[in-house]
Amino acid sequence: MAQSSSKTIFLCNSCGNEFSKWHGQCPACREWGTLSEFSPPKSRGKTNGRSPRETVQLKSLSRQSNRKRILSGLEEVDRVMGGGMLPGSMILLGGQPGIGKSTLALQIVSGCDQTTLYVSAEESEEQLALRAERLGVTSEHLHVSGENEIVNILEQVSVVRPLILVVDSIQTVYNEDLDSLPGSVSQIRDCGQQLLNACKQNGFTVLVVGHVTKEGYIAGPKMLEHMVDTVLYMEGDERYDHRILRCTKNRFGATNEVGIFHMTSNGLDEVTNPSELFLAERTTNTAGTSIFPSMEGSRPILVEVQALVSKANFGTPQRNANGVDIRRLAMLLAVLEKRLGHIMGMNDVFVNLVGGLKIQDPAADLAIVAAVASSNKDMAIMDETVIIGEVGLAGEVRSVAKIDQRLQEATALGFTNAVIPKGNMKNKKAPKGLKIHGVKTVQEAFKYIF
Ligand code: TYD
Ligand code: MG
Repeated sequence: MAQSSSKTIFLCNSCGNEFSKWHGQCPACREWGTLSEFSPPKSRGKTNGRSPRETVQLKSLSRQSNRKRILSGLEEVDRVMGGGMLPGSMILLGGQPGIGKSTLALQIVSGCDQTTLYVSAEESEEQLALRAERLGVTSEHLHVSGENEIVNILEQVSVVRPLILVVDSIQTVYNEDLDSLPGSVSQIRDCGQQLLNACKQNGFTVLVVGHVTKEGYIAGPKMLEHMVDTVLYMEGDERYDHRILRCTKNRFGATNEVGIFHMTSNGLDEVTNPSELFLAERTTNTAGTSIFPSMEGSRPILVEVQALVSKANFGTPQRNANGVDIRRLAMLLAVLEKRLGHIMGMNDVFVNLVGGLKIQDPAADLAIVAAVASSNKDMAIMDETVIIGEVGLAGEVRSVAKIDQRLQEATALGFTNAVIPKGNMKNKKAPKGLKIHGVKTVQEAFKYIF
């Protein structure tokens, strides 16, 4: 019996189902190549070391809800996390190597100034100390450790009794009882589960750093993302000095919030007015650019949409989009061609969002269409104008969400005209200094824009 409990099973990286033998395609979720070997630890008590009486003890719900969030003092981070870190929650911070995860993690815990255990399995304790010195972190509550075996980490936790535990990174910690290498699916799953159990039982917060794959997903089992309470991604373009922290999952707050930082030699600085950053190098009176007030979570950010339409030199014209969905662009080009007579079939079209931002909001449609048309006509868009609206297949301009915040941000940055959907005009009082034009169709919008 003892032997059968340590029998190898196969685990699907995508759906988390277990199988007794290997399959090329997961029988449950039909994904290919997602199964990997998993040997459960040799011995593990059923009650995790707790007595049965302890296991069945229930806690009152009201006592659970009045926990105070831990603030890092970095407003951008606290907002993205839904107003600070909740004690007893597990947070995953993902991003490409070198993007600044360790720097941010250290800045967060230093700002919180609570008893913290920083397990840096990736860098040595000296390297971490050097980094802390560079960032000016002098907290007495910060304990560092270079341990990478999960059992020892949990033992250190029981000694230090931290309020925050940082594991940098989950790919380097391992459970010796498993046969697989650190970073493998089974190791990440097992260590993730052990950390989760520890944080839920003892009420401390775990911040887990994780690398991402080439495709941009957090490496390891997808279920790591299901397991944790909050998933944060750090993004950024190597060409720029700013970094974007995006929340893609939050059990205790809103998702899609973003925080924006500027990289300096002393660490990450918060960017309190991102619109200014993204519009800093804007050229006015140039054909092919338009300004769109985007909503990133609860915050408006003005971004510049650039388009270039040029004659195709090869058979198939190119379509290239940076920061906007290429399929959405194809649809908008079809609308431009069919409804407005801009023939695109023989032209290459390039669309770029300045500053490496990515936008999925359909409210950007009209600004994209306007930028493309502006480049095609070689005619600049009217000065100091922001453009907002979703474009339908019939060439109609549909109303969008959060119009007031978008217009306020435009006014704050000195824009004087806004072209918005007619559907958003109801009971609308324009902010002081801003003239708004409600439009029903793209044709009508072009009358104001050009
Ligand atoms: P690091 O935090 O180590 O990235 P990650 O943990 O995601 O791999 O940062 C990578 C390098 O960039 C490191 O040498 C420090 C440097 N850096 C700065 O100089 N300033 C900054 O604001 C950040 C974020 C990083
Ligand atoms: Mg790191």
